[in-house]
Amino acid sequence: MTRVFEDLSAWRHERRAQIRTGVTLGFVPTMGALHEGHLSLVRRSRAENDRTLVSIFVNPTQFDDPNDFVRYPQNVDEDVAMLRDEEVEFVLVPGASQLYPDDFRYRVTESERARVLEGACRPGHFDGVLTVVLKLLQIAAAERAYFGEKDWQQLSLVRGLVDAFFLPTAIVACATVREPDGLALSSRNQRLSPSDRLKAPQFYRALSTAPSPDAAARTLREAGFAVEYVEELEGRRLGAVHLGGVRLIDNVPLQGRR
Ligand code: PAF
Repeated sequence: MTRVFEDLSAWRHERRAQIRTGVTLGFVPTMGALHEGHLSLVRRSRAENDRTLVSIFVNPTQFDDPNDFVRYPQNVDEDVAMLRDEEVEFVLVPGASQLYPDDFRYRVTESERARVLEGACRPGHFDGVLTVVLKLLQIAAAERAYFGEKDWQQLSLVRGLVDAFFLPTAIVACATVREPDGLALSSRNQRLSPSDRLKAPQFYRALSTAPSPDAAARTLREAGFAVEYVEELEGRRLGAVHLGGVRLIDNVPLQGRR
């Protein structure tokens, strides 16, 4: 049975009771609009823990562009139905005023690695991400939390957050799930027009096969993508592009590129 919690104190009461009886918990934080990528995290959590908690919260503080926040796809009922099908035990759907009783006056800032790539293009984005992840990890009180490698920079910063603040939750990285044509699954893909959807897999192909970041960026521009960045960092090649008003990010390992 799937139990949905809207109230943080009701969830925390439930979790305290689980901890007393030694129940292990896996946690999957999401912003909803769930797809197979999220479900792969959920399945891994279910395989590795007694119970799984999924949170659904479209976090306003991580959107640097208010239009992007307004357009972000939301359908909590559909998400909960998918999680019921996956036999997830707990879903947390908190309101913004519950998660931000301080109105975001308190926030987590990483001052180096959060300033490049996504952080450089989306000022303040990682303050919002790291702050809400810290709150959610405290509230979930899980043994393990599951994050996708598609958001590579986020994953790396979340690992740093857990180390910096001595958080007891282990961070588990899960491989990016792709469509058969290579496009990384993302909640934003549903906003691509049919012709842009056909073009979108070229992003992954260019990241994977171009001889250099500059060559990848050039190929993408020639194909009609607006390129924000293609750069290499910590053994990955990472990119962000716009296609018909939809922002896509992806990354590939430098070792073993095709
Ligand atoms: O990756 C996401 O969906 C979000 O950044 C997260 C981790 C749920 C925080 O809002």
